[in-house]
Amino acid sequence: MKFLRLLLLFISFSTFAQQGGMWIPSLLEGMNEKEMKSLGMKMSAKDIYDVNKSSMKDAVPQFNGGCTSEVISSKGLLLTNHHCGYGQIQSHSTVENDYLEKGFWAMNLAEELPNPGVVVTFIVKIEDITAKVLENTQSLSNEAEKQKKIQDNISALNNSLPKENWQENKIRTFYDGNQYIWFVTETFKDVRLVGAPPSSIGKFGSDTDNWVWPRHTGDFSLFRIYADKNNRPAEYSKDNVPYTPKHYFPVSISGVQENDFTMVFGYPGRTQEYLPAVAVEQLVNELNPAKIEVRDAALKVQDGFMRKDKAIKIQYAAKYASVANYWKKWIGETKGLKKSNAVQIKRDFEKDFMTKVTNAGKQAEYGNVLSEFEANYKAIAPYALSRDYFIEVVMRNTELLSFGYRLYQLETIYTTRGEKAFNDRKANLIEGFDELYKDFNANVDEKVMEQLLEIYATKSPKEFLPQEFVNQDLKAKTSEIFKTSKLTNYNGLKELLNGDAKTVLESMNKDSGFVFVKMLAEAYTKNVVPKYEELNLKNTALQRTYMKGILELSPKEARIFPDANSTLRVTYGKVKGYAPSDAVYYSPVTYLDGVMEKYIPGDYEFDVSQKLIDLYNKKDFGIYGENGKLPVNFIGTNHTTGGNSGSPAIDAYGNLIGLNFDRVWEGTMSDIYYDPAICRNIMVDVRYILFVIDKYAGAKYLVDEMKVVHPKKKKKTK
Ligand code: ARG
Ligand code: GLU
Repeated sequence: MKFLRLLLLFISFSTFAQQGGMWIPSLLEGMNEKEMKSLGMKMSAKDIYDVNKSSMKDAVPQFNGGCTSEVISSKGLLLTNHHCGYGQIQSHSTVENDYLEKGFWAMNLAEELPNPGVVVTFIVKIEDITAKVLENTQSLSNEAEKQKKIQDNISALNNSLPKENWQENKIRTFYDGNQYIWFVTETFKDVRLVGAPPSSIGKFGSDTDNWVWPRHTGDFSLFRIYADKNNRPAEYSKDNVPYTPKHYFPVSISGVQENDFTMVFGYPGRTQEYLPAVAVEQLVNELNPAKIEVRDAALKVQDGFMRKDKAIKIQYAAKYASVANYWKKWIGETKGLKKSNAVQIKRDFEKDFMTKVTNAGKQAEYGNVLSEFEANYKAIAPYALSRDYFIEVVMRNTELLSFGYRLYQLETIYTTRGEKAFNDRKANLIEGFDELYKDFNANVDEKVMEQLLEIYATKSPKEFLPQEFVNQDLKAKTSEIFKTSKLTNYNGLKELLNGDAKTVLESMNKDSGFVFVKMLAEAYTKNVVPKYEELNLKNTALQRTYMKGILELSPKEARIFPDANSTLRVTYGKVKGYAPSDAVYYSPVTYLDGVMEKYIPGDYEFDVSQKLIDLYNKKDFGIYGENGKLPVNFIGTNHTTGGNSGSPAIDAYGNLIGLNFDRVWEGTMSDIYYDPAICRNIMVDVRYILFVIDKYAGAKYLVDEMKVVHPKKKKKTK
């Protein structure tokens, strides 16, 4: 008994002592800096973030809203993932010049390709502004009113806080509404494509290897930031010049070894590390399985068609990859949460929390938060499940239904905001639908719809579904819709949208596809949305209180980091292997040998180009190899999530050693519960990137533009 308690104490202590956590760069100086140094870091917190001097944060812009990137030369050369630049690489590709397939390399500035619409955003300043955001809100007890006042305060501050006229103000909440932070940012709008490896390198292993270790993907692409003559952000112009950054990363070819310090700097999107046990239970037992089941069915249908038909294969490639990405992540996440006993660990944590509440005499403030969570999550369960089914079946995975849903929203815009708003949206839709229909195949979608409606009718809580839907022969209905609805092709859609608002609404309401979607959407809007929103608002308020209690009552060494919210964060750890299951151990580095082991000639996921095979056979790795082998990927204990794609992996001295792009399958639950034993992020070794640029693509001038360093060698010779 006593031993067990000691063991538990040890486990929880070592959980704290190990890493995990995504920290705010301006607040590293306290505990993080010490811990980072104990893990091997040789820099100071000020080297990472400094408001007054240039620091590392000046080299890490967010890439086009969703990914991260880093500046790696004095001339604005920018590195990010292949899957982050995918859309741009695709947009410059034609059948004759397929850069996705063959790769693309500009051999000088003039050959770089502009990408209208693509932006990168730097952080200039980070400052706590909680008091101002919460001004005059403490007295409001109605949650909706309180949130409204907070939003009003934020809008006012956004307009009044000082900044230069080419900069932007942004205010984001941290710790579920317990802290607000102000960011000043600069957004560059002339971002040109410099280079991309062929998909056989940049996307090697594709969906089969996605979220999987051991991995062998060269998931990188290169861009360049351009600025006006004053080095400020500007729209694309041929007169723009390469941006001179305040800081750029030296690139280290010293390589990594197990237990080396690593740090990842980027823009993690969303985590939920402080959910109560009841919420995690719901996610594991109900919500994730529901979403997985829907996507499973959709993917099986699409895959069947893609395997038989090359045109469909191309049409559905990107769509399939994006649906499969989170499908696979949720499966891993669910397994990981179960295996790591996340629910029980949360229950233990909650018990401990309640003891602390009692000991601190804080029952009035926090005594009921957990029981209210229990009740509220029970109450929201059927609504949350219905919502996920609706989103996955109607809005996301049956294309015809999702098209119909957009028209349903268009109708709502007319009734709520009038004709002008209607016409604007209509024009937008007509333009956007062109792209969507290019990659639409009615035969595929009809089969998807048949399967997904069956799931929807039998699995989504019946009490919220329209009666006539549940009682229908769905197969017959699907077939009828695909025979008669104008939504099955772009011309039909344009016909539906032809004329003034009244005419359009009339035509839509005669269309079998639209009428069907409208029936489902109206039931959802009426039976699910209001109650879901009401209960969800309550959960948000409870989460804020719970978080406040955790912050207040935890010992100061407890490492309570704020959940990810797409703002700049630092996570750090070590290069480390892991044991995913009994008797299995994965070492932390993969090599080009592994690419050759996985090679399947002609396969769309595992093909390898002759050029790479030749370089491999000649062992022509230049200065990038290590004992006759070429490192490709490595893993570490850095706590990352979606949005960290393209983030720099940095060594103890501040040099670039890798490029983050994924996590390991067993550790994808780290968005909800980080288990240091099995959560690992996956990075491309920067030496593989340099090798591909130099030896494979023959673009050595790009490597020459970088500052290549070798800190380990220097240390030895000194
Ligand atoms: N899993 C990585 C991420 O979440 C890579 C996704 C892109 N690759 C793919 N095969 N779908 O974004
Ligand atoms: N591939 C992810 C992204 O696009 C990063 C991997 C992760 O979620 O950890 O951001």
